[in-house]
Amino acid sequence: MLYSTHIQTVCYVSREFDFDEIIDRSGTSATKHEKYRGRDVIPLWVADMDFKSPPRVIEALHARIDHGVYGYTDNPPELIDLVCERLERLYGWQVGGQDLVILPGVVPGLNLACRAYCEPDDAVITMVPIYYPFMTAPEFSHRRLIKVRSRFKDKRWTLDLDALEEAARDASLLLLCNPYNPVGRVLTREELEGIGRICLENDVIICSDEIHCDLLFDDHKHIPTASLSAEIADITVTLMAPSKTFNLAGFGGSYAVIQNRALRRRFKDEMRGIVPHVGFIGYEAMDAAYRYGDPWLRELLSYLQSNRDFLGEALGSIPGLEMNEVEATYLAWLDVSGLGLNDPPAFFDRPGLRRPQTRRGAHGRRPRPLAVGFRPSGCGRRFACAASAALQPAQSGGPGFLEDGTRTPCGMVQPPRRDHLLGRNPLRFAV
Ligand SMILES: Cc1ncc(COP(=O)(O)O)c(C=O)c1O
Repeated sequence: MLYSTHIQTVCYVSREFDFDEIIDRSGTSATKHEKYRGRDVIPLWVADMDFKSPPRVIEALHARIDHGVYGYTDNPPELIDLVCERLERLYGWQVGGQDLVILPGVVPGLNLACRAYCEPDDAVITMVPIYYPFMTAPEFSHRRLIKVRSRFKDKRWTLDLDALEEAARDASLLLLCNPYNPVGRVLTREELEGIGRICLENDVIICSDEIHCDLLFDDHKHIPTASLSAEIADITVTLMAPSKTFNLAGFGGSYAVIQNRALRRRFKDEMRGIVPHVGFIGYEAMDAAYRYGDPWLRELLSYLQSNRDFLGEALGSIPGLEMNEVEATYLAWLDVSGLGLNDPPAFFDRPGLRRPQTRRGAHGRRPRPLAVGFRPSGCGRRFACAASAALQPAQSGGPGFLEDGTRTPCGMVQPPRRDHLLGRNPLRFAV
């Protein structure tokens, strides 16, 4: 497909799957959209996509539903084998079926780790900025939080391993995010080895959230922290899921890999009587996604990558706005400090004036959105166009207009809670 806008021309060649289809999510209580029900806002605050899941997943779910009996269901051994084979195939990481703990979500895994591996008032480290449950998990279990601030230079975020080393002297657990949401980094072997060394030397357990591990661009490769060495595996809990990758978040199916038997026991003890099963339909979705979803994933990545490039170029042309280098995830993290706005979140969250117009596609076949998005179809590109228009009033005092003369939709971004991300007034927020 060929998109042409006033900003850039983007080439995306679709082969088998239609990522251009605009799917109306109204009436499905979609969390991302419900927040702005009845308002003209492009919601970008929850990391799920607006694409349909792979057709093979949808078929598998239909078949299971048609079976008609929906009783209690055990963890399917075929699924466990499939996950172990996948980890070995992708990362050369050998994991036994007994090492897997199926979970109804990755965030419960972060919270379980805080409860299982720390006493009250023990310290938990995380790097900021960070996806907010990394900061609420210690708080919920009355553990202390130590934030180690990452550094932003030349559009790239890097870890401060010296500060981590300092913090580790006083901590029991590190909540690590790799790929790193929201800053889009894929941590390198060197960085991970540094983290592993610091944690080994200071008796700090690592809980490594790797939920975005399939969403990598360019030639980036994901390295599971626990695959670095037997010693590091021995102190690491890895959290993974097909939910971000195949747009299955509504099912919650996830898993922890815990190779150290004692750590696994403590984790499972915390789950007892509280953490629910995934449910038969979630198992079915996970299985079909991992078994049949790779061709779809390859095309998804190519589509997202072209959207990422589009967004980067579009936003790059707006003075005062800087987008990070996105190596992974479908999130961009903008530095808007150069815009001189008093309250950036409020500025971007203003009520919209009207929906973006559709126009006929470059091939004249059917209407398509004015701009099409980086993360969910529609959003990032619409954001880029809308942002460039919306920022005009900020820069010139005049009203914002889209390229076809219509007023811009505003309120494109729901900023994360300010205290969660940076612990101070944020000048950076997620797209
Ligand atoms: C790093 C990270 N971990 C976990 C989650 C959510 O996981 P779950 O919905 O399985 O609890 C997200 C969602 O955005 C995320 O970005």
